[in-house]
Amino acid sequence: MRKAKTVADEASVLKALESVAGPGGKSIVAAGLVSGVNVSGAKAFVSLTGDPARAKELEVLRVAVEGAVKTVPGIEAAIVTLTAERAPQAAAAAPPAGQAPQRRPIAAIEKIKYIIAVSSGKGGVGKSTTSANLALGLAAQGWRVGLLDADIYGPSAPRLFGLSGKPEVVDNKMIPLEAYGLKIMSIGFLVEEDVPMVWRGPMVAQALGQMLGEVAWGELDALVVDMPPGTGDAQLTMAQQVPLAGAVVVSTPQDLALIDARRGVAMFQKVSTPILGVVENMSYFLCPHCGGRTDIFSHGGARHDAEALGVPFLGEVPLDLKIRETSDAGTPVVASEPDGPHAAIYKELAAKVKNLLETQSRRAPPKIVVG
Ligand SMILES: Nc1ncnc2c1ncn2[C@@H]1O[C@H](COP(=O)(O)OP(=O)(O)O)[C@@H](O)[C@H]1O
Ligand SMILES: [Mg+2]
Repeated sequence: MRKAKTVADEASVLKALESVAGPGGKSIVAAGLVSGVNVSGAKAFVSLTGDPARAKELEVLRVAVEGAVKTVPGIEAAIVTLTAERAPQAAAAAPPAGQAPQRRPIAAIEKIKYIIAVSSGKGGVGKSTTSANLALGLAAQGWRVGLLDADIYGPSAPRLFGLSGKPEVVDNKMIPLEAYGLKIMSIGFLVEEDVPMVWRGPMVAQALGQMLGEVAWGELDALVVDMPPGTGDAQLTMAQQVPLAGAVVVSTPQDLALIDARRGVAMFQKVSTPILGVVENMSYFLCPHCGGRTDIFSHGGARHDAEALGVPFLGEVPLDLKIRETSDAGTPVVASEPDGPHAAIYKELAAKVKNLLETQSRRAPPKIVVG
């Protein structure tokens, strides 16, 4: 027999948090460690703010908080993230020490029509190259496009677009950098390279929330998110926290990458994000000298896999020197040779993605997966 469903709210979660003692014995709420509480249905999102130097201690606290939040009637899942004391470049705008900053990460993205995740099961398969050229391809269709490089393990937007420097902060919002008409924000603009990995892990989800909510994106038709590789907790949390319109999974034809791609697809299915499709990158090699084609990695695996998984196959991108050279030079091929054969491949991919998004939103209201 089922009881009537209890509906939890932010206040009841906050009350439960008051019973959790932080370092020094004081409640974490009184100590100002809680920087955000959000309830969506039976899921609670809590962010804790602390000093990165105490990452280990805070991780223990994070687990305790998760336990406490789950005891709240009506809450079935708790997602608790850690965030650094304050983003260095936002320091001027940050509230005085001891006072918890009020974060509403997701609210500011209402003006973005479609948020598209580009993901891969593992690194090095061309996720960033695909994200950049897909974003440019969408812009070539007349869309206003942003690119969010959320790959905390290996941010590549600075290299791909030849960008450096910190975003300016105006009215508490970071102004994205711009290249080839795209608005670009990268975790690489924010996180110093020497930040230890142990801290980076827990930071992922929260950092993404900040990059979505505390960036002046303005009105966008699409925001392409270059996700961290893999399908671990951090990726899952992100997929849950961000209202994604759909996901594009990048895979190489090799078997191992394919197994990982399958996991990537399963992850998005788990959080009810529509899979827009699979892209096979480095699909085949076109010899720049003789024009002959070689299927280095037994091409066609991703198409087969996509079919087996029942998700659309979006296309094949060849392994091509020009794609690598332009990516490494900060001039992605769709921007530097917009009328060339490589750009044509990415533009076709972009047109498919655009079409899928538009058809999907005609069928149903845009899917908001906030948890
Ligand atoms: N289709 C391609 N042809 C040639 N080189 C590619 C292609 N896709 C990616 N690369 C190169 O492979 C490397 C890894 O790609 P990248 O996009 O950074 O992968 P990921 O983001 O998945 O780690 C980069 O040097 C990139 O220029
Ligand atoms: Mg990358």
